[in-house]
Amino acid sequence: MERVLFISTFLLLLSIINFTFSLPLSTNSRWIVDDSNHGRRVKLTCINWPSHLETAVAEGLSKQPLDSIADKIFSMGFNCVRLTWPLYLATDESFSGVMTVRQSLRKFRLFEAVSGFQVNNPSILDLPLIKAFQEVVTCLGNHGLMVILDNHISQPGWCCNANDGNGFFGDKHLNPQVWIKGLKKMASMFANVSSNVVGMSLRNELRGPKQNINDWYKYMREGAEAVHSVNPDILVIVSGLNYETDLSFLRERAFEVSFRRKLVFEIHWYGFWNSWEGENLNKICGRETENIMKMSGFLLEKGIPLFVSEFGVDQRGNNANDNMFLSCFMALAADLDLDWALWTVVGSYYVREKTIEYDETYGVLDWNWSSIRNSTMLQMISSIQSPFRGPGLMETHPKKIMFHPSTGLCVVRKSLFQLKLGSCDKPESWRLTSHRVLSLREEEIFCLKAYEKGKSVKLRVFFFGLYCSKWKLKSESKMQISSVSRSGNSVCLDVDSENNNIVTNSCKCLKGNSSCDPRSQWFKLVTSTRSRFKPKPFLQFSPKKTFLSLIR
Ligand SMILES: *[C@@H]1O[C@H](CO)[C@@H](O)[C@H](O)[C@H]1NC(C)=O
Ligand SMILES: *[C@@H]1O[C@H](CO)[C@@H](O)[C@H](O)[C@H]1NC(C)=O
Ligand SMILES: *[C@@H]1O[C@H](CO)[C@@H](O)[C@H](O)[C@H]1NC(C)=O
Ligand SMILES: *[C@@H]1O[C@H](CO)[C@@H](O)[C@H](O)[C@H]1NC(C)=O
Repeated sequence: MERVLFISTFLLLLSIINFTFSLPLSTNSRWIVDDSNHGRRVKLTCINWPSHLETAVAEGLSKQPLDSIADKIFSMGFNCVRLTWPLYLATDESFSGVMTVRQSLRKFRLFEAVSGFQVNNPSILDLPLIKAFQEVVTCLGNHGLMVILDNHISQPGWCCNANDGNGFFGDKHLNPQVWIKGLKKMASMFANVSSNVVGMSLRNELRGPKQNINDWYKYMREGAEAVHSVNPDILVIVSGLNYETDLSFLRERAFEVSFRRKLVFEIHWYGFWNSWEGENLNKICGRETENIMKMSGFLLEKGIPLFVSEFGVDQRGNNANDNMFLSCFMALAADLDLDWALWTVVGSYYVREKTIEYDETYGVLDWNWSSIRNSTMLQMISSIQSPFRGPGLMETHPKKIMFHPSTGLCVVRKSLFQLKLGSCDKPESWRLTSHRVLSLREEEIFCLKAYEKGKSVKLRVFFFGLYCSKWKLKSESKMQISSVSRSGNSVCLDVDSENNNIVTNSCKCLKGNSSCDPRSQWFKLVTSTRSRFKPKPFLQFSPKKTFLSLIR
């Protein structure tokens, strides 16, 4: 009796401080929202977990117990998994319903993996592949994690290239009718059961010589309708052309489906697609951001949801190109408050491109799937896990916070008059007035003043604007916040790397080549309606598990 009371009190508490939300999800303008009365925003912050390679088994289960992997994903602050699957897992009965995990691993002579499985997941080893897949989904649900099923490829294996026969409708392994049959099978498998499957990505990275807009409209529409017809609860997630980079054609011609409030579009964005090092980084970031907006980001402005279902970086932290990309990505992801899925949780694959126990350097877990590969990198990325705005997160006045994309930190108070970089949980909020004064949102008597190069900026009491500096956004990235120092030099906000204090320095890289790095001076003024006074919204949905995890 006592225990029941305790639990119900605790659940009541949870519901008061908005820790949980209810499924199914739907969309409201560009936002994904929950099933509560007013539809509160649910920000998808997922991690990709591949299960589409040769063995068609979720990776890593030879290294760690399923339960422990799910627990790690939850503890790292992700609220969902984009779980990939090969089409033939749903359409080839002799494969999915008959072949067991053990047989599949043996087929590729992965004997070490079999032994590892025996130790870590003995109860899954002799399940048919499709049952093993369902076990993974269920276990993630038990840990309060949502799942998006992503049809990644047809024939199991590493993806993708233009001529691999899996690229576009009409390719050897992408018969539209087989694809639709597979989508229906998978969607109905998780229909009518109280399930944590909240969405389906219809097809990963369409590509190759056969791709064309007319077939895209025809088949993607058929696929979307097919999924919705058997599972009307889930989000239908639609990718574009050219390896999931191009949705620009939606400007001219709408994608029409018979259902409402369940359609989401998706894109991918990786640093290795371009060189981020060849020229001025402000210029590159400005140009790439503009390109993303032109190819897909414009959808948000039209009130259509967009999900970055893959992005990722080398987690070793020493890949300069990826690190530059990441800073630019983080700025846009915070600014637009994107829903996203990081590539990947994988520490190592059973086998990838013929290499057994392939080490995945883009994985947040290490080769053993036991520890976080680089907690500095993860910490940075986790700064965009909480939503900044959206339905249900409204405060009366929207405000701007100063986000520092290359560290994932925000400008916070160090003392009454001084500022430093700190956690984005409780950032100072700002208003850039029409007179270009940066004043605090909540204590409007304070404004930001620049002194000399290398010196800290300070908050000054606003006295008819007399002591305030005037600020403007500079450089092609529009992320350098510039003013004039006391002695009349042009300066930009910067971070003193020794103590994280906010200072001003000469503006870096307004011109010039790739030899200079402006990133310490990048600040993005991000719109936020997050309350400073409420705990940060926590996005797992299963009350029971959330409750357990919070107590722990
Ligand atoms: C789900 O339930 C509805 C209503 O009972 C039924 O019409 C439908 O066929 C079921 N769908 C699946 C995929 O089982
Ligand atoms: C983690 O990444 C950072 C860069 O963000 C790098 O400086 C550091 O060396 C990396 N640490 C490890 C343990 O790989
Ligand atoms: C994996 O774990 C084993 C046993 O704990 C350890 O000996 C090994 O060094 C680890 N390997 C890597 C690459 O982390
Ligand atoms: C970049 O510019 C600097 C100074 O103008 C020059 O010394 C350097 O050689 C240039 N580097 C490249 C890669 O062009």
